Order: sequence, then structure tokens, then C-alpha cells
Amino acid sequence: MKSSVRTLAIVNGGGDAPGLNPVIRAIVRSSIYEHNMRVIGIRNGFDGLIWPEGAKEMTEETVSGILPRGGTILGTTNRGNPFAYITTENGQEVVHDYSDLCMDNARRLGIEAMIVIGGDGTQHIARDFSRRGVNIVGVPKTIDNDLDATEVTFGFDTALVIATEAIDRLHTTAESHHRVMLIELMGRDAGWIALHAGIAGGAHIILVPEIPFSFEAVCDAVRARELRGKHFSIIVVAEGVKLPADDPQGKPIPPVGPGGVANVIADILREMLRKEIRVTVLGHVQRGGSPTPFDRILGTRFGVAATDLVAKGQFGRMVCLKAGKMASVSLDEALEKMKFIEPGCEIVHAARAVGATFGDSE
Ligand code: F6P
Repeated sequence: MKSSVRTLAIVNGGGDAPGLNPVIRAIVRSSIYEHNMRVIGIRNGFDGLIWPEGAKEMTEETVSGILPRGGTILGTTNRGNPFAYITTENGQEVVHDYSDLCMDNARRLGIEAMIVIGGDGTQHIARDFSRRGVNIVGVPKTIDNDLDATEVTFGFDTALVIATEAIDRLHTTAESHHRVMLIELMGRDAGWIALHAGIAGGAHIILVPEIPFSFEAVCDAVRARELRGKHFSIIVVAEGVKLPADDPQGKPIPPVGPGGVANVIADILREMLRKEIRVTVLGHVQRGGSPTPFDRILGTRFGVAATDLVAKGQFGRMVCLKAGKMASVSLDEALEKMKFIEPGCEIVHAARAVGATFGDSE
């Protein structure tokens, strides 16, 4: 189908996710092969519309060989909202509205429509540009898989494979040394990676932001395993888990962010259990490297579906996966709700039914 849009731009914002390059490749190829559209790549998220010097035409050649590559060939940033861009001038924080500048630069580049690939923060910016009349189609992206509008986002499966392999590896060393091993996984607001990897890796205790836990319940679970002759335990911790307000001695626990939370939990459990405890913080390894086939396919489908929407002139929408099929929702709808684990849901039940605990009283 020939589109009335002749020049389309791709912007990706926020943290990278394995599968981004397959989305970019799919947009570029399907734009050229199916719709006779030119594609311009914007570098480093919306920063690339404030400073457009790096913008360049994308061709078959520019996307050649990127399907299996992690990261994004366009570069990205998870700072900088053009509607409220914070800079430091003479030691003072200054907030700029660069949105008009972005729109002028887009016009100067001949851009008639934009595909914006990003999570919650990036899609908010996309929605705000869309309200200003920019022709936008969104593509959801987050390894945390916490956007309610889509069944799944690319990057999640790759993160899961990496996290599950890490848990498998911890099993053998934990068992050999009769230790308690904690592994902290990504998931700032929602514990999907921890829940799924915990089940796939056969973790004994899974701590997620959505299910409040107590140190006593965690210790009880470890001790119950000891009584059954299992002298090791694997505890999966989502980085966004909410710590109890006080430790078991009644001392307030100071707030701690991602990357530190499993260590705080480990210090308290060490005192309580008098067992050897070790901590692994998996961190950005979960986001790096080659996407799984699932994420390559999902990225390709999202990229093609978004390009088709542009060609049909259906703007202000975000593509999504619904009942296994490509669909779309309005950007407003896309941002309405985040997806959190329901403590009573079937997958939590499945984890409990096979013996995992969430450190709660159930
Ligand atoms: O939202 C995706 C995510 O990977 C979170 O799981 C994690 O907390 C965050 O991004 C890390 O961001 P950064 O790359 O800025 O450290």
C-alpha cells in the first residue's frame, strides 16, 4: 500500500531492551518495501530532535545485520523530557520547554510522522506531542513487562532467559556450599521478571514489590527446608521490592534503591539465620546482548504493525499484543494503567502450589 506519508522518523527513548534493533529493522524494511516511505533515524531519544545534527536517513544498508544485535543502533537516553528539559546553568537547575524546537526541527527534516518506541516515560512524551498535532504511532518497550495495554513487551523474554540461567547456576553452588543465595533481578515497580524467572529457575522464595514480605516468614521458609534436609535456599528479589519499615529488632530500615536491596535483606537474614549467605545483583546483564528469537519476532511484528498504522494514517495510537495478535490502543489508553502482579493470580498460585513462598503470611 502506498502511504500519503513520504517521510517517517524513528525515535527510541528510555532504557534499551533486546529487540529494539529488530523493531528498527522492521520499520525501515517495511517502509521501503511496502509503503515507499523514507525513514529518518533520530539519535538518542528526543534529544535528537533538540539537537538534530545526528539524524540520518535509514536504508537497507543501515539496518543490515542488526536483527541479532542487542542495544539500539540509534543510541538512547532515559533522561530528558523535551517538554521539561532540566539543565544546570550557573549552578542552578533550569527547566526548558524544547517541544516547539523539536517540532520545528522535525519539520525542517521533512518528517511527517514518527514512530516512537519506548516505555511509560517515552510514551507520555509521545502522547504530549500527539496532542500538539504530531502524527505519532507508539511501540511499547520495557524489559519489566509492566505496560498493561500489551500482553508482553520485547526484551522481557531475553531478560527472563538470562535471569533463569543465572538462577540455575546459583543452584549448584548454593547446594554444594549449603548456603542461602539471593539474586536481585530488575523490576523497578513490578516483579514480573522475578516471578517468572523464580518459577522457571525453581527458586524457593520470591520477593516482589506487589506482595509485602516479612523477614520472619522468609526465615521460616529457609528453616522449613533445613528440616526437610535441604540445606540451601535460593531467594529471588525484585529490585523494587518494598522492605518492611523496621528490621526484626525494631530498628528502622533506611531506604535503599535498586542494586542495594538484596544486600540489605541478606545482612538481616544473616543475623537471623546464622547461615552463610551470598548475594548476586544481576543488573544490566539482563538488558544486554542478543535478543531471543521470541523478542526478535515480537520486535519485527511490532515494527511492521506500527509502520502499517502510519501508512493507513492511524495516528495517536500504540501497537500492542492482544490474545496473541497485533492490535493497537490509543496513546491515552496505553498510558492509563501499569501492569502489576495480582497477589491472588493464577501464576502466583502456580508458584505457591509447587512450593515457592513469597515471604508473606499467605
Ligand atoms: O525500566 C527498565 C529498567 O531496566 C528497570 O528494570 C531498571 O530499574 C532500570 O531500567 C534501570 O535503568 P538504568 O539503565 O538507568 O540503570
